[in-house]
Amino acid sequence: MIGAFSCGIMSVQVIVGAQWGDEGKGKVVDLLAEQSDIVARYQGGANAGHTLVVGDRKYVLHLIPSGILHDNVVCVIGNGVVIDPVALMEEIALLESFGISIEGRLKISHKAHLIMPYHKLLDTLQESGQKIGTTGRGIGPAYIDKYSRTGIRIVDLLDRTILEEKLRRGIAQKNEWFRKVYDAKELDVETTVAEYLEFDRKIDSYITDTTYFVNEAWREGKRLLVEGAQGALLDIDHGTYPFVTSSSPTSGGACTGLGLPPTAIGGVIGIAKAYCTRVGNGPFPTELDDQTGERLRSEGGEFGATTGRPRRCGWLDLVALRYSAMVNGITEIVLTKLDVLNNFDELRVCTDYLLDGRPLKYFPCDCATLERVQPVYETFKGWNSSLADCRAYADLPKAARDYVEMIERAIGARVSYIGTGPGRDEVVTR
Ligand code: GDP
Ligand code: IMO
Ligand code: MG
Repeated sequence: MIGAFSCGIMSVQVIVGAQWGDEGKGKVVDLLAEQSDIVARYQGGANAGHTLVVGDRKYVLHLIPSGILHDNVVCVIGNGVVIDPVALMEEIALLESFGISIEGRLKISHKAHLIMPYHKLLDTLQESGQKIGTTGRGIGPAYIDKYSRTGIRIVDLLDRTILEEKLRRGIAQKNEWFRKVYDAKELDVETTVAEYLEFDRKIDSYITDTTYFVNEAWREGKRLLVEGAQGALLDIDHGTYPFVTSSSPTSGGACTGLGLPPTAIGGVIGIAKAYCTRVGNGPFPTELDDQTGERLRSEGGEFGATTGRPRRCGWLDLVALRYSAMVNGITEIVLTKLDVLNNFDELRVCTDYLLDGRPLKYFPCDCATLERVQPVYETFKGWNSSLADCRAYADLPKAARDYVEMIERAIGARVSYIGTGPGRDEVVTR
């Protein structure tokens, strides 16, 4: 069996989004969590929307790792994550309303930074200038504070005096910006302080030193699955800057975002959709602004799990995927949503980019160039049949297998699972 822990070495497996996010990471993590002891998130925040479909129930997780439905799995929110208390409490309450107890199964890093109400407000106000098309969850402003060393961390919740002092300082500074720069309404200090003191009471039991927790678990031979949010092309360093998120979704982020050494990482599982989508602004060379794009959107249900925005859709982009495989060190691919292509007579795949008529050797680092590239397409025959009953690779129609194998050849990594529907069981195991 090919899978997260098939080789018997309990090295850490990292799940990364290989495109622009929403590749189906949540479903894959839920699937592989079955064979895991710990699932840990390393970056991002409630900008993520990870969908898990089990039976007729659908769960959308934003902060809590996608292993939480398995009651033997411990979930970790690592130091690299930025935590919105409101979103976290809502998510815990939602899970509990479904009868899922997280008691003793959720560990939150004391080094993780908190998202404050002023981060969310700033996110919205800043979007009226340069339009990135953010999720409005306060992610960018929270990471700005982290790197400018003025952030408030989970550990600060443990000391009321320190918390109050930092909160008052943060709110005073941001209120000045709201007043002088944005002409916007100021935040009430007392209300915010009271809210965060209350949050402290609620999450106290989950706070721990997750750096030691994950390292000791790894050394004890526990099976660790690490869950990325967003995708490589939204990475702050390696993505389509400035149309990116403010963290490091690529596999390198797993080490800094959890405090695991690079030597712990044994494999990087890249999740790639059989086509491409993107939410928010920024270049997207294979975008289809036509009926075919509409078809991909409606058949793939391509609407944001966090904001409900329609996702932009286009053909599979192998130039971008090869780049992502290189930066992430992808050792294995899970190809999701192959079923969405069921009813197309022909499928197109971008194999190369041309710039001013000349082939480009690399995925461009700047958006101005990426906006101008012309995709070179290869056309493949569709399979025009349902994949609903396929569970083994041999069950797939030949044209679908040809499509999968073409991707493997292009990327140089094996496709180990193939998604044939949103449900936990709708998967072909290779
Ligand atoms: P994530 O952010 O990477 O976890 O992905 P999202 O949950 O935002 O978006 C993926 C969407 O595709 C969700 O609605 C999933 O339920 C759905 N999905 C995942 N895998 C498959 C698949 O193989 N086929 C189909 N049709 N839907 C899938
Ligand atoms: P998951 O984990 C898709 C996009 C936003 C915007 C950019 C910056 O579900 O794959 P931010 O709010 O992070 O500052 O927005 O990044 N974005 C995502 N797109 N999936 C996500 O997460 C995303 N998280 C952020 O649309 O373009
Ligand atoms: Mg998503």
